[in-house]
Amino acid sequence: MPQYSFTLNGSPQTVDAPPDMPLLWVVRDIVGLTGTKFGCGIGQCRACTVHFNGKATFSCQIPISAAAGQEVTTIEGLAEDGLHPVQRAWIEIDVPQCGYCQPGQIMSAAALLAENPRPTDEDIDDAMSNNICRCGTYNRIRAAIHRAAEEMAR
Ligand code: FES
Ligand code: FES
Repeated sequence: MPQYSFTLNGSPQTVDAPPDMPLLWVVRDIVGLTGTKFGCGIGQCRACTVHFNGKATFSCQIPISAAAGQEVTTIEGLAEDGLHPVQRAWIEIDVPQCGYCQPGQIMSAAALLAENPRPTDEDIDDAMSNNICRCGTYNRIRAAIHRAAEEMAR
């Protein structure tokens, strides 16, 4: 089995895996970080969103062979200590319903705010439109992103 090394949540990580194994299954099944969720496996729902070299990306569509040498952050590594402002805003606004899509939503929201610290509603809708929520929490997601933006500006 080939061996692949990459940076995961700021630390070096080496795994033995088939080259076409999706990063999603590497982080969940080999490394054991289960915060990143499997929704569709075909790039349509973004439940599996991680940061790949700082950009929000669907981990179900990245083979581990393409992740070698790259930097990957999962929901477990989003905050260096405690909670990321996006996570705090999510709690304050009480965003989740069933919760399943929420790690992906939070990872997309954090990537948006890293690029655009004061997004408009339209910016938020553009950046978040690929993250599907079957529970329809979209209005609370938008409110929480504005709340996190305010906190990060302080
Ligand atoms: S599980 Fe990756 S986009 Fe749906
Ligand atoms: S909170 Fe249930 S799918 Fe989004």
